[in-house]
Amino acid sequence: MERTQYAGLIDESYEGQQVTLFGWVQKRRDLGKLIFIDLRDREGLVQLVFSAANSESALNLAEQMRSEYVIKVSGVVKARSAKEVNPDMKTGKVEIEVSDATILNKSKVPPFDIADGVEASEDLKLKYRYLDLRRPEMQRGLILRSKITQAVHSYFDENGFIDIETPDLTKSTPEGARDYLVPSRIYPGHFYALPQSPQLFKQLLMGAGFDRYYQLARCFRDEDLRGDRQPEFTQIDMETSFMSQHDIMDMTEGLIARVMKNTLNLDVKLPFDRITWQESMDRFGTDQPDLRFGMELKDISDIVKGSSFKVFSGAVENGGQVKGIAVPGGADHYSRKQIDAFTDYIKRFGAKGLAWAKVGADEFSGSVAKFVNDQYNEITTAMDAHEGDLLLFVADRSKVVADSLSYLRVTIAKELNMIDPKKFAFLWIIDWPLFEYDEGDQRWVPAHHPFTMPNEGDEHFLNEGENPYEAHAQSYDIILNGLELGGGSIRIHTRELQEKMLKALGFTPERANAQFGFLLTALDYGFPPHGGLAIGLDRFARLLAGSDNIREVIAFPKNSKATEPMTEAPSPVADKQLEELYLNVTKQDKE
Ligand code: AMO
Ligand code: AMP
Repeated sequence: MERTQYAGLIDESYEGQQVTLFGWVQKRRDLGKLIFIDLRDREGLVQLVFSAANSESALNLAEQMRSEYVIKVSGVVKARSAKEVNPDMKTGKVEIEVSDATILNKSKVPPFDIADGVEASEDLKLKYRYLDLRRPEMQRGLILRSKITQAVHSYFDENGFIDIETPDLTKSTPEGARDYLVPSRIYPGHFYALPQSPQLFKQLLMGAGFDRYYQLARCFRDEDLRGDRQPEFTQIDMETSFMSQHDIMDMTEGLIARVMKNTLNLDVKLPFDRITWQESMDRFGTDQPDLRFGMELKDISDIVKGSSFKVFSGAVENGGQVKGIAVPGGADHYSRKQIDAFTDYIKRFGAKGLAWAKVGADEFSGSVAKFVNDQYNEITTAMDAHEGDLLLFVADRSKVVADSLSYLRVTIAKELNMIDPKKFAFLWIIDWPLFEYDEGDQRWVPAHHPFTMPNEGDEHFLNEGENPYEAHAQSYDIILNGLELGGGSIRIHTRELQEKMLKALGFTPERANAQFGFLLTALDYGFPPHGGLAIGLDRFARLLAGSDNIREVIAFPKNSKATEPMTEAPSPVADKQLEELYLNVTKQDKE
């Protein structure tokens, strides 16, 4: 007999019906003449009752059943008596009186409990990923991810987008991260690169006239891993011709609204707020602000520039600034010791200290109170502060101030439970600088990528003798709850401008040609104005699932050391394979 329904879906409406279920033993309670088993499948749990009255042979089999045995059962759905109803379970009002049972397969005792909230090391869970994936939370995450991709396909299809695959074995398209290389067997010493994104191919598809492209594209980046980064990940990638940046943002909002509706049944309010990069930096100190709470950064440079407190007045004199946040009710909450810990932490951003003041009814107390008490009214007004608040100030150059205060803003909001976890705060950041200075590498790099179009009227900054780093860009990032969900831009579609852009990035004409000659040539042949965007599918799924790591919504992810504990990839290969690829690995490297 075939399965009649998923175990987790049996509710009161099935009462009196004969059902056949397949699944795993979650838990067994043996009361001798009566055995209860929770049966689990991908939809949830249902309680099975084995008794001599229903079937002696099924009861005997139930005695042998253990956790994670795979079984098949048939029986009648019965209402539970009132006192046995479990309101926390979808199937909590019913149970199955089993008349027939089969053990389909046995299981060893699993290395960890198959239950949500299980305590086991990440690597152990990844080594037995197929067991970890049996947990309801993990099943929900991957089912949610599938709902997202279904919504994406239908939305793009309805809007005339064409799903086109681009190659995985390709040439490197530098977008900031290190490439994964694949050696060529046929051309010794030559390498393919796995794509960091389909960026240039999707642009070439616009050159080819497809007009609207999308793809769920696998991307590879060999970068340091974090909770929201994996070496391989998936982009919801799109590109269009003849659309303005605001058209593309509208189209993206429609996509996001569709996904929110189809997955969480939420109606999001459109359009999303759009703020400039500069406004975001001023108000939040970051280009990925979390709008689920306030505590915005306030600038008091003008108020304190003549202060007797040299830390403040000196910073302003040196071209820096003094900014702060007002922590609501923070005066009673934070001790001297905790503030010292914050002070220590923000040293990593270059901060030289953290000045603080507790707001009293008509004066401040705290580390800098005596210097700023004269300006009590001006400062509390500028900071929008009230009695009982804690004011935290950093005086330094703007980058240090921004990094320190944006860190404190988020950390404190989490500590004080100021964030509603049910809220989804979407936001566009627009009008980015075209370039940003990479302090580590000490050079200018594209803020988005080298194919991004300057703002209308800013193209001239790329001309000889002008300062390209003043240009702003037609690029846009979509932020959700303080995380970059996706980003895109209008692209350069003329050879002349693209060459100037590469020059501003320090490319010689020879290197530009070696790297991007195929694109430059394509731009010579009637290339349409175009632009697009990519959303990180894994990040999107993670935020919708409420997980704290994108691993939770990827079936077989890498761990934080970029290895895969189950298959043990990456692994050494046979010498013969290396020889075929003309590769020589030194013994030391092998070990
Ligand atoms: P970008 O590099 O901003 O843009 O990437 C787009 C989105 O992809 C996601 N993402 C990642 N997700 C998981 N792990 C990673 N290592 C990782 N890196 C990026 C993020 C990010 O916002 N070609 C351009 C897009 C365009 O211009 O159309 C691009 O790749 O959510
Ligand atoms: P000091 O004058 O060094 O004793 O510092 C007095 C207070 O100002 C202490 O709380 C320091 O943490 C703080 N402080 C020092 N430098 C800075 C700075 N650049 N920005 C903000 N606060 C600072």
